[in-house]
Amino acid sequence: MKITAIYPGTFDPITLGHVDIITRASMIFTKVFFAIADVQKDTLLSVEERFELAKSILFPLTNVQVCSFDKLVTASAVDLGANVIIRSIRSADDFDYESQMAGMNRRLCASVETVFLKPAEHLSFISSTLVKEIASLGGDVSEFVDQNVVVKLKSKFSQ
Ligand code: COA
Repeated sequence: MKITAIYPGTFDPITLGHVDIITRASMIFTKVFFAIADVQKDTLLSVEERFELAKSILFPLTNVQVCSFDKLVTASAVDLGANVIIRSIRSADDFDYESQMAGMNRRLCASVETVFLKPAEHLSFISSTLVKEIASLGGDVSEFVDQNVVVKLKSKFSQ
């Protein structure tokens, strides 16, 4: 059975935690859209920058397609022919929020199911916000993000 999934997020920036999740998803589903949300205004990186970074990092995953979306995630899933939304649960703290969002998405579109994946333990503490904070203060984030992201953050914070 062929199942297409969508992994939506802000990805500002994409971290090794996100890469871990999309890699796991690519091994389970026939095709996975790595869908970058263009719905929040206050991001450090533009949607084009987030898109280019994701493409440069995820190209080895041949059944993964990077895209962006500016509407409801359920509507985007339907447009893309995806019937699974992938979300990541790093810890119990993530669960309440993710469970609420999954419930709401189910009410919006009953034909799209949310599936939770857990990242590797050593990546479970990474967040994009902490990565940006460390990088903005000159810290080394190379353990948490791809080298292309390291370079991009350096250029952003040296402006
Ligand atoms: N590794 C690293 N970080 C992870 C992670 C993982 N495996 N899983 C989650 N995170 C982090 C993210 O980096 C982010 O960190 P930050 O807050 O420090 O930036 C945080 O968890 C939240 O993840 P994110 O992917 O940004 O999701 P979100 O909670 O901001 O949700 C959308 C964004 C786009 C999925 C959601 O708002 C959405 O679907 N919007 C479209 C409009 C819509 O349909 N709304 C109705 C929803 S019911």
